Amino acid sequence: MTHNILLTGASGMLGKEVALALSKNGIEFSGSGRHEARPGFLGNWVRADVLTGSGLDAAVHARSCIIHCASTPAKPGNDIIALRNVIAAARAQNTHILYIGIAGIEEAAKRYAYYKAKLECERILAESGLPYTILRASPFHSFVDTLLRRLTFGPFLLVPQMTLQPVDIQFVAETLTMLAFERPIGRLRDVFGPEALDTQRLTDLWFAGKQGRKSRIPMPAIGSFVGLTDLKVVDGMSGGASWSEWVAQHRQ
Ligand SMILES: NC(=O)c1ccc[n+]([C@@H]2O[C@H](COP(=O)([O-])OP(=O)(O)OC[C@H]3O[C@@H](n4cnc5c(N)ncnc54)[C@H](OP(=O)(O)O)[C@@H]3O)[C@@H](O)[C@H]2O)c1
Repeated sequence: MTHNILLTGASGMLGKEVALALSKNGIEFSGSGRHEARPGFLGNWVRADVLTGSGLDAAVHARSCIIHCASTPAKPGNDIIALRNVIAAARAQNTHILYIGIAGIEEAAKRYAYYKAKLECERILAESGLPYTILRASPFHSFVDTLLRRLTFGPFLLVPQMTLQPVDIQFVAETLTMLAFERPIGRLRDVFGPEALDTQRLTDLWFAGKQGRKSRIPMPAIGSFVGLTDLKVVDGMSGGASWSEWVAQHRQ
């Protein structure tokens, strides 16, 4: 079979890494998004809005697989509508849909709407009758780093209590790229980083590699932090750089 992949959310944190992995492996693909391609994007680009469905049928036409990375955490209901649109567009040619979920969220989904929507998307896809693969990943190093930066106020770091298994986004992107060539396998084992780190250890390593020490101020689990504090440690496929290695590589 000739492989020709559509990557939704290609301008996003994960989408950019998947595009790089696909390009590096010489795989034919098009990135897609609701705007024009960002300067320097490697690969073809098609405009398609997964929420309105505009441009989606044309973008999906003749694809062997859709790697669906588009998402809007701030509007969880939109992810459900968007996935239904992707499924509708894929149905004409029974296209394989590869969906990225989040690992360890079952409990957290009871209190955090985005995770609830993620699980609902998995259910909808599994019941769609289309060939599908679901890969759940732990929070990415880059996501955790951004989060900690946002919670830094001068010499203080506000920190929610959590235990995370931060994972190297390149490892996730390469796994997704490989799966786009496999036969659809349904729900796969979760992917996560080499260490499970509680708040203390996570931030110790972050201070050591990057920021210099800050005074930690415990913060309550509110808003989107409810999701992170309720995440459960998972088992499955561990790989990629550890948190401390990643922090050292991204020292500034
Ligand atoms: N971040 C993590 O740590 C993590 C961990 C595990 C799993 N995941 C999952 O991985 C996926 C990608 O996450 P991410 O962190 O890469 O997200 P992100 O950086 O916020 O990227 C989301 C992408 O979705 C696109 N998008 C949003 N609405 C769209 C629409 N209506 N039509 C077309 N494209 C649209 C955005 O494009 P625009 O440029 O147009 O906004 C952007 O490219 C999500 O499903 C997330 O749940 C994330």
